Amino acid sequence: MVESATTPFKTQTVRFQELVNLKLAEYCQIGAGCPERLEGAISYSLLAPGKRLRPVLCMAASQICGGSVDTALPAACAIEMVHAYSLIHDDLPAMDDDDLRRGLPTSHIKFGEATAILAGDALLTRAFEVMASDVKPAESAARCCRILALAAGPAGMVGGQSDDLAAESQNAPNQNNIEALEHIHRRKTGALLVASLEIGATVAGATTEQIDCLRSYGANLGLAFQIVDDLLDLTGDESTIGKKPGQDVHRGKLTYPQLLGEEKSRQYASELIEQAILSLNIFGTEGAYLDELARFVLERNR
Ligand code: IPE
Ligand code: IPE
Ligand code: MG
Ligand code: MG
Ligand code: MG
Repeated sequence: MVESATTPFKTQTVRFQELVNLKLAEYCQIGAGCPERLEGAISYSLLAPGKRLRPVLCMAASQICGGSVDTALPAACAIEMVHAYSLIHDDLPAMDDDDLRRGLPTSHIKFGEATAILAGDALLTRAFEVMASDVKPAESAARCCRILALAAGPAGMVGGQSDDLAAESQNAPNQNNIEALEHIHRRKTGALLVASLEIGATVAGATTEQIDCLRSYGANLGLAFQIVDDLLDLTGDESTIGKKPGQDVHRGKLTYPQLLGEEKSRQYASELIEQAILSLNIFGTEGAYLDELARFVLERNR
């Protein structure tokens, strides 16, 4: 997420990212039975330079609730695997049809469509294997599997993705569409961010009150995150965002800038971030890291 470690926030973020990257590389070594080409496609997408926002949220949530970062690491990696699968499939010709992801050719461009689809399938299933096997105790593992499945599934991320595609070219700026878009963004992107926080809190043995506050933080952060993603598609620079900009307009996507314009979209994202930060009150000074992370989500340029 950040290039150089010059503040406590940046130092902590780089530490989280390094831990995740090392563990993800371990999880990519699948071994006997996995075809070399498939393993190559899995590593290619999973280890590509993403921001690791979801694992960072998971580990920070664990820490804020009194748990250790190490305990949260396998769960954090499982969530990143689900995210990586969603990106591979999101980029397919039948979905957003994108050629560039994380500054690299997308999986189907590099390996062909069939291998890309299978790499996505493999990442999704491997995520639940990792969650079930490496999150301890087994009772926490089962709870985390359920949280992740609900967030990523048909009433969460996949449902949001389905409605995102159905709304292409039905993007007239009106009140119905504003409501529909919020529902799409909360599921296609928000749900996994909320789950990342809830899973981190769960492995730390958090209280219900702590979990509720983190869920509220995540819901506001998640919507703001996707609004900023929409803005970056419009105004971002290809070499910085690592994706080809302008694709949302090209495909007639329902987006915040399309409905509200750039300025009002940024204003709304900023209000959501302020709301997110208010949910951290119960954590006192321990909430500082997630507070800065929320501000980063608004200011980010990738
Ligand atoms: C991209 O997510 C897809 C969205 C949900 C907007 P990120 O912006 O977190 O992508 P990476 O992981 O850093 O590549
Ligand atoms: C995708 O939203 C959300 C996912 C669940 C992958 P976008 O389609 O806007 O994400 P990008 O811009 O391709 O990363
Ligand atoms: Mg999409
Ligand atoms: Mg896309
Ligand atoms: Mg986008």
